[in-house]
Amino acid sequence: MRKNIRIKHALLGLLLAGATTLASASDAEQIAKGKSLFMNKKKGNCIACHMINDPDANLPGMQGPPIVAMQARFPDINILRAQIWDATVRNPNTIMPPFGRHWILSEDEIDAVVAYIYQY
Ligand code: HEC
Repeated sequence: MRKNIRIKHALLGLLLAGATTLASASDAEQIAKGKSLFMNKKKGNCIACHMINDPDANLPGMQGPPIVAMQARFPDINILRAQIWDATVRNPNTIMPPFGRHWILSEDEIDAVVAYIYQY
């Protein structure tokens, strides 16, 4: 009886460890996808206007503010997402394209970009 419980606990531990590994693997994929969208001239092309402290960020533009301290400046990640979905809500005269409203990026792609920049 007691041995059974111990086995159950061991199995539960294995299951939990597996779930955690899966979750972090998909987070890493999401971040990698977001990074390529950020850099890709045909997609987000955020790099054209925003500096980011990533060694792969080549020749960033300076029209937008640098992507730094995102978590501190956007404690609510949904406000950050809304900025990327449609920057004209906060500033009707912005030069930042409304990526969601104009279907430049899909909802999934916006989530990926948010996951990527939220680390900076
Ligand atoms: C054509 C230039 C341009 C492009 C491309 C651009 N942005 Fe922006 N972005 C700006 C400007 C300018 C601002 C400053 C706020 C404003 O004008 O409303 C801004 C603001 C932001 C902010 C808010 C920063 C803060 O500190 O308040 C974030 C986050 C952001 N952009 C992320 C992105 C992401 C992610 C992409 C790519 C999907 C992107 N931007 C593409 C120009 C751009």
